[in-house]
Amino acid sequence: MRRKAAGDVALVGGCCLLLLLLPLLSHGADMPLGSSLSPANQALWSSPNNTFSLSFTASPTSPSLFVAAITYAGGVPVWTAGNGATVDSGGALRLSSSGDLQLVNGSGAVVWSSNTGGQGVTTAALQESGNLLLRNSSATLWQSFEHPTDTVVMGQNFTSGMNLTSASYQFSLDRNTGNLTLKWTGGGTVTYFNKGYNTTFTANKTLSSPTLAMQTNGIVSLTDGSLTSPVVVAYSSNYGESGDMLRFVRLDTDGNFRAYSAARGSNAPTEQWSAVADQCQVFGYCGNMGVCGYNGTSPVCRCPSENFQLSNPADPRGGCRRKIELQNCPGNSTMLQLDNTQFLTYPPEITTEQFFVGITACRLNCLSGSSCVASTALSDGSGLCFLKVSNFVSGYQSAALPSTSFVKVCFPGIPNPPLGGGGSPSGRASGVRGWVVAVVVLGAVSGLVLCEWALWWVFCRHSPKYGAASAQYALLEYASGAPVQFSYRELQRSTKGFKEKLGAGGFGAVYRGVLANRTVVAVKQLEGIEQGEKQFRMEVATISSTHHLNLVRLIGFCSEGRHRLLVYEFMKNGSLDAFLFGDAPGGRMPWPTRFAVAVGTARGITYLHEECRDCIVHCDIKPENILLDEHHNAKVSDFGLAKLVNPKDHRHRTLTSVRGTRGYLAPEWLANLPITAKSDVYSYGMVLLELVSGHRNFDVSEETGRKKYSVWAYEEYEKGNIAAIVDKKLPGEDIDMVQVERALQVSFWCIQEQPAQRPSMGKVVQMLEGIMDLERPPPPKSSDSFLSLTSATTATGVSGSGSTSMVSTFTSSAAPPAPTPSPNVDEVQQEMAVGRSASARIRDRASRSLLGQEPYMTM
Ligand SMILES: *[C@@H]1O[C@H](CO)[C@@H](O)[C@H](O)[C@H]1NC(C)=O
Ligand SMILES: *[C@@H]1O[C@H](CO)[C@@H](O)[C@H](O)[C@H]1NC(C)=O
Ligand SMILES: *[C@@H]1O[C@H](CO)[C@@H](O)[C@H](O)[C@H]1NC(C)=O
Ligand SMILES: *[C@@H]1O[C@H](CO)[C@@H](O)[C@H](O)[C@H]1NC(C)=O
Ligand SMILES: *[C@@H]1O[C@H](CO)[C@@H](O)[C@H](O)[C@H]1NC(C)=O
Ligand SMILES: *[C@@H]1O[C@H](CO)[C@@H](O)[C@H](O)[C@H]1NC(C)=O
Ligand SMILES: *[C@@H]1O[C@H](CO)[C@@H](O)[C@H](O)[C@H]1NC(C)=O
Ligand SMILES: *[C@@H]1O[C@H](CO)[C@@H](O)[C@H](O)[C@H]1NC(C)=O
Ligand SMILES: *[C@@H]1O[C@H](CO)[C@@H](O)[C@H](O)[C@H]1NC(C)=O
Ligand SMILES: *[C@@H]1O[C@H](CO)[C@@H](O)[C@H](O)[C@H]1NC(C)=O
Repeated sequence: MRRKAAGDVALVGGCCLLLLLLPLLSHGADMPLGSSLSPANQALWSSPNNTFSLSFTASPTSPSLFVAAITYAGGVPVWTAGNGATVDSGGALRLSSSGDLQLVNGSGAVVWSSNTGGQGVTTAALQESGNLLLRNSSATLWQSFEHPTDTVVMGQNFTSGMNLTSASYQFSLDRNTGNLTLKWTGGGTVTYFNKGYNTTFTANKTLSSPTLAMQTNGIVSLTDGSLTSPVVVAYSSNYGESGDMLRFVRLDTDGNFRAYSAARGSNAPTEQWSAVADQCQVFGYCGNMGVCGYNGTSPVCRCPSENFQLSNPADPRGGCRRKIELQNCPGNSTMLQLDNTQFLTYPPEITTEQFFVGITACRLNCLSGSSCVASTALSDGSGLCFLKVSNFVSGYQSAALPSTSFVKVCFPGIPNPPLGGGGSPSGRASGVRGWVVAVVVLGAVSGLVLCEWALWWVFCRHSPKYGAASAQYALLEYASGAPVQFSYRELQRSTKGFKEKLGAGGFGAVYRGVLANRTVVAVKQLEGIEQGEKQFRMEVATISSTHHLNLVRLIGFCSEGRHRLLVYEFMKNGSLDAFLFGDAPGGRMPWPTRFAVAVGTARGITYLHEECRDCIVHCDIKPENILLDEHHNAKVSDFGLAKLVNPKDHRHRTLTSVRGTRGYLAPEWLANLPITAKSDVYSYGMVLLELVSGHRNFDVSEETGRKKYSVWAYEEYEKGNIAAIVDKKLPGEDIDMVQVERALQVSFWCIQEQPAQRPSMGKVVQMLEGIMDLERPPPPKSSDSFLSLTSATTATGVSGSGSTSMVSTFTSSAAPPAPTPSPNVDEVQQEMAVGRSASARIRDRASRSLLGQEPYMTM
């Protein structure tokens, strides 16, 4: 009767008084028979400490309708009378004189009842846990915890036999296994989620009464009389965090089962776990004929094709319908192909519509079957094809799905435009739109160009400052990291008319220059370029987009008429060969520096091979192409150049380039096998050996018993005579023999005859740094001749093209300076002969690559 009093006082006293009195008056007291709540009197029944309250709240779907809900402080609903049943403003929730709790309509119709009439119920009470009890003086006869709707809160036991329902979805526990089961029940039943947690634990057990609960610490657990301890279903992401909050699990209207937590006073719970990780796997999420996909992170619903439209444009999840029904097709019907798409099937609702056929048959079987509306060829190795004959079809599209699906539509099938805009390949309307856009854009661009030209004409034409301004502009560009375009005259000026020659590489001479901002640069005058302007710029863009500490940086370029020049950062200490073999003061380059150069070079090549966007095989690793800055940091140069040079042009060939390149070429060059990143590894291995020994790898002398140095070095290594290999010029005290041995081992692994036996450059770095263990390398040259193996090993990895300097090596009439005859020299000459005959083929490959037929290798 106190509730009635409260209502009366509220009516008389107005809302302020009401707010003051209500908590007092509803203070956890038991509700006697005859008590009632209604949307009109805004009364509520609350738990002793006001943690939960039962009252009418506006329906989430329609504000003029109401649901009777138990809500947590703040407004999160945890139970509703009749699972979301709505009444109008004249409705009520009342405890009848017979002890039945009833939700009635304004018209007096009973919408929902607890069915406890005549069982002796005397009071109703809402507990601090959120449980609503109907009881007599000694026993509980009904409780809301045993009749859950869509939510299970802390302290509530959800057992098998109970259901959570929400929209067209149902959640339950399998009685025998305790599996968590999610079903779609919107016309037929489809189980789309059925998972046992910790199967090892429950494998052979038949459970008696599995129970799911949300523990106060955030663990969702499964208990059963036959289990000694609870099985963890999931840890909430905020597991273990304490505070005044409610934790609960809920079956949401989107068919997912989630764990939440909500702070007291907040009406926005935070998701802590969801059972179905991929929302698109929820059957029917996008309605009938809807296709679920992702726009980045959120699931979005679309129709299968332009032959469909949303049933309710305001609700993408409401499904799609055909613009023309199949039976009304003006002509034929056809099967429209949807790539990376599946019509969900777990297992198929109708198992008789499951076949083992290929994609084409999967399409045709559905086309000829009059009741079939769609089909899916799983293409996941199972060979399965599903025909969808049911009246509800749920689609799932993801780039990761191998499946191909077909949907039956009236001819012609009009595919969806690609997500993210762009012109659609079909559809006249969008085609016309595309034209309009193109014309507008063209107009705008040419307008802008005209404007700029006019401005230049007015202001700059006669201005003497124009040249200076352009140089400044160029410097700005340089600062931004993009390659700067220089004019030929600018470069002529900065190199004082190409006076100070730094060297002559395989691609042309290099000159020292000083830019307007006093940056010292190396200007490379490329020779033998017959490439078009556009392709040259593309190559320049590729080269300049590779930035690495151990790669020489391209600052800019010049492309004017015949002139093609590249501007690089200047390396104060020149190239490595001068230090190792030459008369540079670097004969005394100490071991720590040599080792750092070895690691740095390996890092630079690793970047070219593995880490930059377009992989680059260098094809010409040799000491001449390893430059040293003022701190003796190694910088690899000349990468990406081979592609720039016309292979038919022989002018740039010099004796030095022949000598420099010969010993570093991997054997596969001679055998017409694919050139891969592993060819660079071979060349690197030779350089590494030279760093240790200070000898050219192909040197032949009395000291090495008339053997090639690399062959002799391996023999000495085999004998354990490492000291004999180490460069005599090295100052003895700072040699780290552990590093030396490691470097030698890596080197011998790198120069293995079989490309597959060589490590990747990434591994080389790890081996050198000692991160990776090293096995003892086998002899580089296998017992059978390499050439005899060539037919067995065909294309492995990316095949590539030949470096021009390599081509020149074997087509040049100039023979290398011949050492005194010996068996080993014969061998070298034999190689040269093979090379000569192979050169034409290699050149073929080089030009093939230049034509862009091997898009993944830019050289
Ligand atoms: C209600 O709150 C008081 C004071 O905070 C506390 O002592 C009491 O145990 C609480 N009652 C229940 C049922 O939680
Ligand atoms: C509730 O009453 C309204 C009119 O008073 C009626 O339109 C509606 O159908 C009723 N709902 C139920 C479930 O009886
Ligand atoms: C309360 O209900 C229980 C179960 O129906 C019954 O056994 C018990 O006698 C009832 N107590 C009273 C006082 O009526
Ligand atoms: C839930 O189950 C546990 C263990 O079986 C039991 O102690 C507890 O009383 C149950 N809670 C409710 C509200 O029934
Ligand atoms: C739960 O749903 C199943 C069908 O899915 C039904 O047979 C069962 O009676 C339901 N249980 C409850 C307690 O409503
Ligand atoms: C229970 O789930 C596991 C996968 O977690 C599944 O292999 C098993 O078939 C399920 N059991 C039942 C009875 O559905
Ligand atoms: C399964 O439960 C057993 C026993 O509690 C436990 O040792 C094991 O680690 C659990 N396995 C998983 C995958 O949770
Ligand atoms: C589970 O059942 C299988 C076959 O029924 C049996 O071979 C195995 O030993 C059982 N494992 C346990 C742990 O009972
Ligand atoms: C993806 O869709 C959601 C819901 O429609 C929208 O809120 C979000 O902005 C979309 N994201 C992108 C990247 O388009
Ligand atoms: C219908 O399709 C069949 C098979 O593709 C074709 O042979 C036939 O000409 C089509 N008929 C019409 C009216 O388009």
